[in-house]
Amino acid sequence: PLESSDEWVNRGAAEATRIQDGTASTIRRTVKDFAFGDSLGEGSYSTVVLATDKHSQKKYAVKTLDKRHIIKEKKVKYVNIEKNALNRLGQRDGIVHLFFTFQDEQSLYFVLEYAPHGELLGLVKKYGSLNEDVVRHFGAQMVDAIKYMHDQGIVHRDIKPENILLDDRMRITITDFGTAKMLEREGAKYPADCKATSFVGTAEYVSPELLNDKYTGKSADLWAFACIVFQMIAGKPPFKATNEYLTFQKIMKLQYAFTAGFPLVVRDLVKNLLRLKPQDRLTVRGIQNHYFFADIDWKDHDAVWNRPVP
Ligand code: ADE
Repeated sequence: PLESSDEWVNRGAAEATRIQDGTASTIRRTVKDFAFGDSLGEGSYSTVVLATDKHSQKKYAVKTLDKRHIIKEKKVKYVNIEKNALNRLGQRDGIVHLFFTFQDEQSLYFVLEYAPHGELLGLVKKYGSLNEDVVRHFGAQMVDAIKYMHDQGIVHRDIKPENILLDDRMRITITDFGTAKMLEREGAKYPADCKATSFVGTAEYVSPELLNDKYTGKSADLWAFACIVFQMIAGKPPFKATNEYLTFQKIMKLQYAFTAGFPLVVRDLVKNLLRLKPQDRLTVRGIQNHYFFADIDWKDHDAVWNRPVP
């Protein structure tokens, strides 16, 4: 299936597709153009390695997937979704940049922006919890990135702190679109949600509608956003138990408690997002208008993305 796929027409190791300014142009790039270094992480179907472009000395995070494994495990569809989603999103603040894709006999390669400051979770682990101003700063960047993604008809479906990285300027960048859903256009707009799915994300951040009705949409990303906001303040996610089953039980019963000293304004935001029915949750606009974000001028892209961490 990978061999016949239009998405991976670049043969052998010769060609690559470079994405710049949202348009794809073909230039030649191969594994040999990169010097591979330290491992940055490992997933079930991929490894991410730090690599340096031998010509420009620029550093990249190269995600490598083993073709045989992908085919055997029937993940071809998801690999193509990741490539298509990142191409549709283009190079925008808040979304990990995809520079090249290519393949050789054995593997598929995604040449991604290298996020040198690691996971947002790293900060939470290092400091135990983040203060209100820092949460507002990173929270605003997350909301802006999620809004952009949703406006392009893409639902991430596995938003969690491990998928929120920090770029070279300490700004958040969302990664791992292998679980994304590309919504079909309905007239001029994308729908808010979509039908039954077999997909389940990471236990702690999964929405109740996915567990109950196998139904997911944009508001599931906002549920996950609320879980992360909670975690940035409390140091731990709202729904956490000794195993997945018990975690799911807690989610379906909306069983969570704010920690002592949890700021009231953030409590209000989280409470209005952690609602069992997706239609009862704040929308992106509702989040932007919430008084926690009263000082954020959402139309000022620079103010959201180019201010230092408080
Ligand atoms: N780990 C996974 N993806 C990464 C990236 N793009 N940059 C840094 N570390 C990563």
